[in-house]
Amino acid sequence: MSEAKVGNYEVVDHEYDVVVVGAGGAGLRAGFGCAEKGLNTAIISKVFPTRSHTVAAQGGISAALGNMGEDDWRFHMYDTIKGSDWLGDQDAIEYMCREAIPAIYELEHYGVPFSRTAEGKIYQRAFGGMTTHYGKGTAQRTCAAADRTGHAMLHTLYQQSLKHKAQFFIEYFALDLIMDEHGACIGVMAWNLDDGKIHRFKAHQTILATGGYGRAYFSCTSAHTCTGDGGGMVARAGLPLQDMEFTQFHPTGIYGAGCLITEGVRGEGGYLTNSEGERFMERYAPSAKDLASRDVVSRSMTIEIREGRGVGPKKDHIHLNLMHLDPKVIQSRLPGIAETAKIFAGVDVTREPIPVLPTVHYNMGGIPTNFRTEVLRPTPKDPNNIVPGLMAIGESACVSVHGANRLGSNSLLDLVVFGRAAAIRAAETVTPNMPHKSFKEGFDGTHALVRLDKFRHNEGDLSPSDLRSEMQLTMQEHAAVFRTGDVLEEGHRKIVEIFNKRDNLKVGDKSMIFNTDLVETLELDNLLYQAVASLSSAANRKESRGAHAREDFTERNDDEWMKHTVTYVDEQGGTTIDYRPVILHTLTDEVEAVPPKARVY
Ligand code: FUM
Repeated sequence: MSEAKVGNYEVVDHEYDVVVVGAGGAGLRAGFGCAEKGLNTAIISKVFPTRSHTVAAQGGISAALGNMGEDDWRFHMYDTIKGSDWLGDQDAIEYMCREAIPAIYELEHYGVPFSRTAEGKIYQRAFGGMTTHYGKGTAQRTCAAADRTGHAMLHTLYQQSLKHKAQFFIEYFALDLIMDEHGACIGVMAWNLDDGKIHRFKAHQTILATGGYGRAYFSCTSAHTCTGDGGGMVARAGLPLQDMEFTQFHPTGIYGAGCLITEGVRGEGGYLTNSEGERFMERYAPSAKDLASRDVVSRSMTIEIREGRGVGPKKDHIHLNLMHLDPKVIQSRLPGIAETAKIFAGVDVTREPIPVLPTVHYNMGGIPTNFRTEVLRPTPKDPNNIVPGLMAIGESACVSVHGANRLGSNSLLDLVVFGRAAAIRAAETVTPNMPHKSFKEGFDGTHALVRLDKFRHNEGDLSPSDLRSEMQLTMQEHAAVFRTGDVLEEGHRKIVEIFNKRDNLKVGDKSMIFNTDLVETLELDNLLYQAVASLSSAANRKESRGAHAREDFTERNDDEWMKHTVTYVDEQGGTTIDYRPVILHTLTDEVEAVPPKARVY
């Protein structure tokens, strides 16, 4: 550690083999994996690690353990490809589904307190889109720790990180990447929220594990901290974001509050009904019914409401029923949602249905990577060209295992499998304590401080929270479950206008001893880059696939659109859109690729 002068700031300089930004499930798994391999590793997090959003994951983590009946990782792979509506990269999906099984046993050995079967095996529940025999049976594949699986995992992973002596920088906000003159990433600038000091981290590998950008929307299951900080930094570094048009709406957010009610409720036998008391999913997905994939269920609920069969005085939501379940099942398997339903909907789940509505839950898009988690900057010659020194994992990344629609419980899996993959790749590319090069002028982090100062001293008249509301309402209205070209184009035009109002922000009352406006402005800036990319990519994709349901292009069009959208956002909110091919081959010859076909549940 040393001190240096950068621009107007005295900064604290650090040198590490690896710096991980974000301390949720993916960041912790990568961070302690690197430390375990002898790499000098720092983990930077804007919140205390066990407050990261992984803590909110409820229903479980998928792996074909076969504890509750027959299963095979190849079935899991097939389901994930089908769930992705053939936009997922099949090499990465093979890797994830195969590695799922050892990943769960590893978690068990680390100490995750999974629920158990009577024989003492890890308990697994049914989740949407998970089948046996390539769509023929229902798989119980989601390993659960009651309905607090993310909480159990996050605490265990944090303990492992302490055990392996990863170095934590807690309540440090990452400002921007530091890129060198050749386009490689050489570290990150961060701001210590406690004392205001700037820290400059040099690293041979910087791993972004900053989570999704759910807070670009008005109503979401995401924590207030889910502001896609990694995606914002990547966009400002001139790197692309991928498949940003694909936003997942979870079918069962609590009406009005947006809190998650796990899909595990339907996995345990819960079901949805409309105002006529009808189990309408039987009409939309005759085979999987309430356990069809999330995009299918969310669309079906939206159609029911639109056609006047919603419940409540305004007929604007749907009922989730679990009154018929044995109270012992609720107590042992779903205690958390019983409490959440009581607090946020005033509902006793043993007597009344929970009012629910599709709610933004997950970003399938993000920072493009290969299955080794290296960030991609496609070139005309090489769609898989990598950015040296930069990796991304978890929801911040688009690896792409979820394609156009993620299956429930594949997210916790993605975190641990690709967190571990990042540690493996970092250890292959970095030798412990390798010397660092000196910073060159213009490539030393000054740009991050210029941006910080610009926002800090802005003397406009708009409050960051008002601008954030404008963005959130625009996203909610214009990038919804169903989309049309006109609505998307209008939304795109509005969001670019909102993006450019950042210059007119008034950041904080300078006389106040403590205010959070500056950090919220930086978060808003990150969100806005991604909101622009989402609307622009969505307006451009003229087909329906997975979570992107266009009413003016209702069919999937593999001939023209089976490709990833690659979007660059400039400082004025302008976008350049390119495409790269979906990887349709497998990683090994142990399994065959799954060719596209109609997707029915
Ligand atoms: O419904 C849930 O428990 C959410 C799980 C997930 O998004 O993977």
